[in-house]
Amino acid sequence: MDEQAAKRKVALAALEFIGHCGVIGVGTGTTVACFIEALSGLKHRLDGAVASSDDTARRLGEIGIRVLDLNAVGPLAVYVDGADESTRHGQLVKGGGGALTREKIIAAASKRFVCMIHRAKLVDVLGDFGLPIEVIPMARSHVARETRKRGGDPVWRKDYITDNGNYILDVRGLDIVDPSALETELNQIAGVVTVGLFAHRRADTLLVGGESGVETITIT
Ligand code: A5P
Repeated sequence: MDEQAAKRKVALAALEFIGHCGVIGVGTGTTVACFIEALSGLKHRLDGAVASSDDTARRLGEIGIRVLDLNAVGPLAVYVDGADESTRHGQLVKGGGGALTREKIIAAASKRFVCMIHRAKLVDVLGDFGLPIEVIPMARSHVARETRKRGGDPVWRKDYITDNGNYILDVRGLDIVDPSALETELNQIAGVVTVGLFAHRRADTLLVGGESGVETITIT
């Protein structure tokens, strides 16, 4: 099965979680794009969706799903998104698509976080992907230095501005043996907007796609 077919399969599996729940949260990325495509057949079940990026808002609008402000509708019953890496415990690295801040907000404001990944993204220890960190532009060098002190190798994602007007540092080489502790620690650095570690608010359900179909992992 090619990668795109696996994404479609896992996206179809995610539809089972939307129920008749009114308003859902929708993440960002290529797997989510498949999910939105699949959602078009069920849009009558939804009152609308909260989007984690301008790109997702556009895609939802294109298939006729109303995009709503989280302030007007939260908390949400379910949030559906992808990830760049995941442990079997639902701890994630996110932000490859740069939408980590709004993703973290919607995940925090949702009762259930359903995360769709390819089997290749399932890891024992997070970190090979690198860790995206959204920073206030004037803090870019400061945050980079702070991550270096912790063994990281930060690279500025040049020519990229987030939907919130900020920069992204992609940090490789960090030791992520305790994702929750590192998330807390990096959050303390002045100028950090969002760390792409989703360990405190992790996924509740992982849908893992691959050659042999979709495995559902429920995190308790
Ligand atoms: C967006 O900022 C990311 O967190 C995505 O959820 C993540 O990069 C997964 O994207 P793909 O589905 O494109 O792999």
